[in-house]
Amino acid sequence: MAILSPETIAENGLVKNSSGTNTREQDAQLLHTVDSIMKGRFSCRYFLPKPVSRRVLEEVLDVARFAPSGNNTQPWEKVYCISGEELKTLGEAMVNASREKPNLYSSQYQYYPAISPAHYFTKRRQEAGAVLYGSMGIAREDAEGREKASSRNYNFYDAPVALVFTIHKDLTQGSWLDVGYFIQSITVAARTRGLETVSQESVSKYHSVMRKYLPIAEHEIVAVGMSMGYPDLEKVAQFPARQPKRELSDIVEFHGL
Ligand SMILES: Cc1cc2nc3c(=O)[nH]c(=O)nc-3n(C[C@H](O)[C@H](O)[C@H](O)COP(=O)(O)O)c2cc1C
Repeated sequence: MAILSPETIAENGLVKNSSGTNTREQDAQLLHTVDSIMKGRFSCRYFLPKPVSRRVLEEVLDVARFAPSGNNTQPWEKVYCISGEELKTLGEAMVNASREKPNLYSSQYQYYPAISPAHYFTKRRQEAGAVLYGSMGIAREDAEGREKASSRNYNFYDAPVALVFTIHKDLTQGSWLDVGYFIQSITVAARTRGLETVSQESVSKYHSVMRKYLPIAEHEIVAVGMSMGYPDLEKVAQFPARQPKRELSDIVEFHGL
């Protein structure tokens, strides 16, 4: 469904160029570009071994820091950007930790409820797992296969860049929400530069391993990680794992319009 019609563009205009004189074609092009960047987003788990320059990464983070936050608190404490040999070493250590003694490690927060609610939430979680593992031909009952596939999280899916996001331990749900806006902004700014990402709560479990390699302070909670890089589109197509999205009619209620 087209949400913004050409009439809407004509009435409201979109982001103006520096002289404030976008043509209708420029507006339409901008709309198309932004919509397709957002709608084309997906969690990418296959990357080319092509390095991401520090300059591009800085650009992405520079854009994202304009994300909104409650009272402008900007509670994204630190973003650790890791690449090259440092990433290789960290990834190996995390993979080893996950293989050898996974029970020794735990996240500093609880991402999912301890008891999975018996409603759509659990159903969608299971469906997402079925799409993801199904794309690799791994059956639901194949615990070993799932384990092996999910262990790719710990070397950041062989991406050239890993990001680790932290938040101050004194902060609460509102600030965690703010960090989500920030991270989504990174995802979008990365896409405009041909980069793809996958967010990873799973890596937060190995924060103590990260702490051996990164100067993460005691007051910082490792909230989430992210793999980023230029996508290996052949592999993405080979293991198609597009997740279904809820219909607008299922999400939205309009009142008075
Ligand atoms: C906060 C957060 C944490 C996530 N953690 C992981 C993770 O640990 N490993 C992983 O492979 N994907 C992870 N994902 C990606 C989700 O599985 C993915 O967003 C979801 O299945 C929808 O698929 P899509 O992003 O391709 O639309 C995470 C996403 C978010 C937003």
